[in-house]
Amino acid sequence: VVVVQGLGFVGSAVAAVVAGARDARGSPKHFVIGVDLPSPGGYWKVEKLRAGVCPVTAPDPELGGLIAEAVHAHKNLRATAGEEAYALADVIVVDVPLGVRNPRAEDPADLELDLDGFRAAVRTVGRRMRPDALVLIETTVPVGACERIALPVLREERARRGVEAPLYLAHAYERVMPGPNYAGSIRRCWRAFAGIDAASAARTRQFLESFIDTARFPLSELAEPACSELGKLLENSYRAANIAFLHEWTLLAEDLGVNLFEVVEAIRLRRGTHDNISRPGFGVGGYCLTKDSLLAQWSALHLARSGVVLGVTLNALRVNYQMPLHTFDLLQELCDGRLRGRAVLVCGVSYLPEVADTRNSPAELFLDRLEQAGARVLVHDPCVLTWPERPDVQVQRDLGRCLRQAEAVVFAVGHRPYRELTLPGLLAAAPAPALLVDAQDVIGDDTAAGLHAAGWRLLGVGKGHWRKRGYQWARAAGGAS
Ligand SMILES: NC(=O)c1ccc[n+]([C@@H]2O[C@H](COP(=O)([O-])OP(=O)(O)OC[C@H]3O[C@@H](n4cnc5c(N)ncnc54)[C@H](O)[C@@H]3O)[C@@H](O)[C@H]2O)c1
Repeated sequence: VVVVQGLGFVGSAVAAVVAGARDARGSPKHFVIGVDLPSPGGYWKVEKLRAGVCPVTAPDPELGGLIAEAVHAHKNLRATAGEEAYALADVIVVDVPLGVRNPRAEDPADLELDLDGFRAAVRTVGRRMRPDALVLIETTVPVGACERIALPVLREERARRGVEAPLYLAHAYERVMPGPNYAGSIRRCWRAFAGIDAASAARTRQFLESFIDTARFPLSELAEPACSELGKLLENSYRAANIAFLHEWTLLAEDLGVNLFEVVEAIRLRRGTHDNISRPGFGVGGYCLTKDSLLAQWSALHLARSGVVLGVTLNALRVNYQMPLHTFDLLQELCDGRLRGRAVLVCGVSYLPEVADTRNSPAELFLDRLEQAGARVLVHDPCVLTWPERPDVQVQRDLGRCLRQAEAVVFAVGHRPYRELTLPGLLAAAPAPALLVDAQDVIGDDTAAGLHAAGWRLLGVGKGHWRKRGYQWARAAGGAS
């Protein structure tokens, strides 16, 4: 019996993949119970999973299929808001959040983490768990949290119940990527883990091998939980720094009239050293890349008593936070600084294409600037029904209607319906010549040329060649720009 604590973007996918694991005869290896809080935010996730539906919007048919099959056919996936479930578990997987209260703090010493929810979650586990159950923490935590926060809480709760048996505890960070390869990013991905002792590590290995294709994606066993905790923070800081680094080259390339996408694709061919260099873009959002580096900095000051300041890393987060302002500048340029009263359509508010997660969306800062400038803002996203962080904003679903109403269009996320727009489709949807900023390489060069020929004015993040061709100016009557 595996109990997954937290049915959010990570836990619901983990529950599905673990429930989908089969033995040699095709029978389920595990009976899985997903647990979320008895709160308004938790109940609907529990009810959705019970109904065989993924609790979070998932564009991956494999994930939906795994859940439906486990709930309806094999009946080995259940969900509850009752903490009694922990008492049934052989393995308890912790997938609850642990965030930063003040991510914009200027001084690293002022950073404050939201540890209460994590502590409370672990305490519930300690209160209910079987003495011999394995607790596997997948939550991204500060370095040292398993041994210095989770372990004492679990010990305290178990001691209260008179449990003296050895405790099995480990950390194995998640690399799950919500999106088209959601389930695959758990099943078919390398995993690093570490236990508090050899016995915990051995049980964790056995559990991970039961649902990950470890023949093709071998496990990395690290020396101690701090290594696994630090690994996650380092991985995400590396990605955040890569994005910030590329952003300053984006600014340079635009001024030089260079198409940076073309350059980056050529650089990416150098496999092994440069194949994951970032591409130009609108900004960075989501739950993880905006906070994980801050957890590392907090660990240094509060758990390691270290004076190390992760300067490059923290600066990358600042650059990434400000990045959407560059798109705002491009839009201002197209509008000759006159945004007041203009209808601006922002296409995409999630943090990734084909994903519904709006946490820390870079569109928020962009929207604030548009509103300050007096623009009339329209927001469209094909994946997002509501924008919980901006309940004041109604997210539109009818792209054609939005395009008809817009005087300026900004592609902020590369969702498929935007990438599938054709030149005739765009011209038909928005018959009056419009302004367009492509911040995510949504529009190809032929479409851009066609739009400009039809009277549109365009700029693109990383698209210095558009600027060089004069797409930012109106095409003169005689045909020349
Ligand atoms: N979202 C991602 O793509 C991703 C990827 C890798 C790692 N992570 C990490 O995984 C962790 C979870 O992230 P998420 O995106 O799934 O968060 P989330 O907010 O989508 O989901 C967390 C869920 O945990 C529930 N919860 C909180 N306290 C609980 C408790 N005591 N008992 C039961 N349920 C409880 C919440 O109600 C929520 O539904 C975080 O540490 C995150 O950094 C996230």
